[in-house]
Amino acid sequence: MNNKLNQTMAPTSESKDSRQRTGQPWNDMHSEALESMSSQQRDVRGMGSMLSKASQVFILTDENVAPFWLPEVAYWLRCDPAVDIIIKAGEEHKNLQTVQRIWKTLMKHHADRNALLVNLGGGVITDLGGFAASTYKRGIKFINVPTTLLAMVDAAIGGKTGIDFGGGKNQIGTFAEAEEVIVDPVFLSTLPRRELLSGMAEMLKYGFIVDANLLNTSLENYQDYILRCGEIKREIVAQDPTEKGLRKILNFGHTLGHAIESHCLAIDHPLLHGEAVALGMLGALWLSVKQCGLDKKVLKEYEKQLPVLLSEAEMNLTKSDVEPILSYLALDKKNKGEKPQFVLLEAVEKPIWDVEVEPKLVSDAMDYTINKVSSL
Ligand SMILES: NC(=O)c1ccc[n+]([C@@H]2O[C@H](COP(=O)([O-])OP(=O)(O)OC[C@H]3O[C@@H](n4cnc5c(N)ncnc54)[C@H](O)[C@@H]3O)[C@@H](O)[C@H]2O)c1
Ligand SMILES: [Zn+2]
Repeated sequence: MNNKLNQTMAPTSESKDSRQRTGQPWNDMHSEALESMSSQQRDVRGMGSMLSKASQVFILTDENVAPFWLPEVAYWLRCDPAVDIIIKAGEEHKNLQTVQRIWKTLMKHHADRNALLVNLGGGVITDLGGFAASTYKRGIKFINVPTTLLAMVDAAIGGKTGIDFGGGKNQIGTFAEAEEVIVDPVFLSTLPRRELLSGMAEMLKYGFIVDANLLNTSLENYQDYILRCGEIKREIVAQDPTEKGLRKILNFGHTLGHAIESHCLAIDHPLLHGEAVALGMLGALWLSVKQCGLDKKVLKEYEKQLPVLLSEAEMNLTKSDVEPILSYLALDKKNKGEKPQFVLLEAVEKPIWDVEVEPKLVSDAMDYTINKVSSL
């Protein structure tokens, strides 16, 4: 099995015409994005044999992505007629019920072990689809076609699949590699700005832990760095597929980030994952300065990026949120014993993992974080 990042081209003008004939919604940005790339030829050579070997092709997507991209991608992969499986959008549907629906559709169409599932969507779709495919008849092949920035740089790569269960995120899942991950920024033309910023936070994460160049990521240039992020994730995963050590650095900003994300969900002011990670990285940088000798300038530079990163977040965190956020830390499944484990930085590109931090310092880091963002 391989997990190659294919930089594929946008659909041809021919496919665009066929798409328009379907009478689907067609916004200007979407249309412009296709226009600007319409002179390029598709390159799906690597995919051709896999698609032709498949006994049947199924495309899993959600209700937001389908109107923009489903007919396009079906044509583009030359897998028309494929069986479409369109599910409701959102994390709340990343559950066993939806997986059952996918399994039932596969069964209804007599999908055998040579069937192929194309996961077209954000991280919810690639996680769900990867899980459904890797368990159906003990595993069928699947391809990820990520359509959010977060999925392009993170979720669609690395072989972790899963669903939420029993009130917890990603409690049930498998390690299963996609046959291909097809990354094309054209899909981002229809993605809401808030989602784009959430993905950018994960890109900055790679900047802190592996490649300082990525700290220059901005709304103007993020497309230039997408493939580099994928490369980094693949390299790390190849060295430590099951997260015994090195892979933990991908959790930079996530210890506090997950706690903030859970708390904000509980108080009905949900944050996007990348927004919570943006806050978690602020806390982790502060802790790195205090405990690991990180140069304070790194923290200060990051603080200049925060207003943009969080510009679309609906956030009204105050000091009274610190306590409940800290109580979520205790639930972090990655914790060992009493003390939360952090990924911290000695310097940019020099992460250390499994770092224990005294509870008082963690609480001060949360105070600092909340203070900072409430003054934005
Ligand atoms: N497996 C992993 O290694 C891994 C890593 C990180 C995150 N994740 C998972 O990824 C999920 C989050 O992924 P996400 O941020 O992509 O969320 P998502 O899949 O919910 O997508 C965000 C929203 O954007 C919409 N959307 C997607 N593409 C679009 C497009 N091109 N145009 C318009 N709308 C579009 C979706 O319908 C959804 O409403 C979480 O469930 C998380 O657990 C998994
Ligand atoms: Zn993340």
